[in-house]
Amino acid sequence: MRKPVIAIDGYSSTGKSSISKAIASKLGLIHMDTGALYRGITYFALRHCLNNRKEIDMPCLLNNLEKIQLEFRNEDNDLILYLNDKNISAEIREPQISEYVSIIARQPEVRDFLLEKQRSAADEGGIIMDGRDIGTVVLPAADYKFFLTASVDERTKRRYLELKQLGIQTDKLAVKQNLVVRDKIDSERETSPLMKAADAVVIDNTELNKEETIALILSYIKHF
Ligand code: DC
Repeated sequence: MRKPVIAIDGYSSTGKSSISKAIASKLGLIHMDTGALYRGITYFALRHCLNNRKEIDMPCLLNNLEKIQLEFRNEDNDLILYLNDKNISAEIREPQISEYVSIIARQPEVRDFLLEKQRSAADEGGIIMDGRDIGTVVLPAADYKFFLTASVDERTKRRYLELKQLGIQTDKLAVKQNLVVRDKIDSERETSPLMKAADAVVIDNTELNKEETIALILSYIKHF
């Protein structure tokens, strides 16, 4: 029997990726964190296309997209991101990447470049994909769609703790500002903005912990 395709969209730091990962392991699905792809492109841009005013030289990036080979490799059922054969899964979590990623993600050429990679991963079914436009643009025919949200203060707290656990020094105000700015750019961009799909179930997990959120999502998924 074909396994389902599940789309999880929502705001930054609502726990989309860690929740999707846990659901994937419970249901025997592949998990793809599509934000990592945008972060991978940003990593490349910061290394090769940063001008001396510390801005991304966008024509440089767009002219070099074909040199970017992003690949998820399955390591112990975890998809690890490689850029041109280098494991960049730790580097893409750095605050500098978070600072620039929304500017990169609003470029239509970048979104186009990543679209087929994401769609083809779902061809066989059996995948849970998390991002911002999965239910609306990437996989509009997904079997299940969820849209995660939570208050900005709760999301700041979670993101701050996550960075601390990764050994990345920052302060709460900077984390909050980055979340608010990213939400705004992601929601207001013209190409595939962050938006709830008409048929997505909204999950507000301000008051729910990770396990409760997972249980709530699983309660919508029929056995297969
Ligand atoms: O989920 P994340 O914070 O790692 O995502 C990083 C950025 O990538 C986010 O600010 C918006 C962008 N993104 C996107 O535009 N579309 C997706 N499907 C996933 C992420």
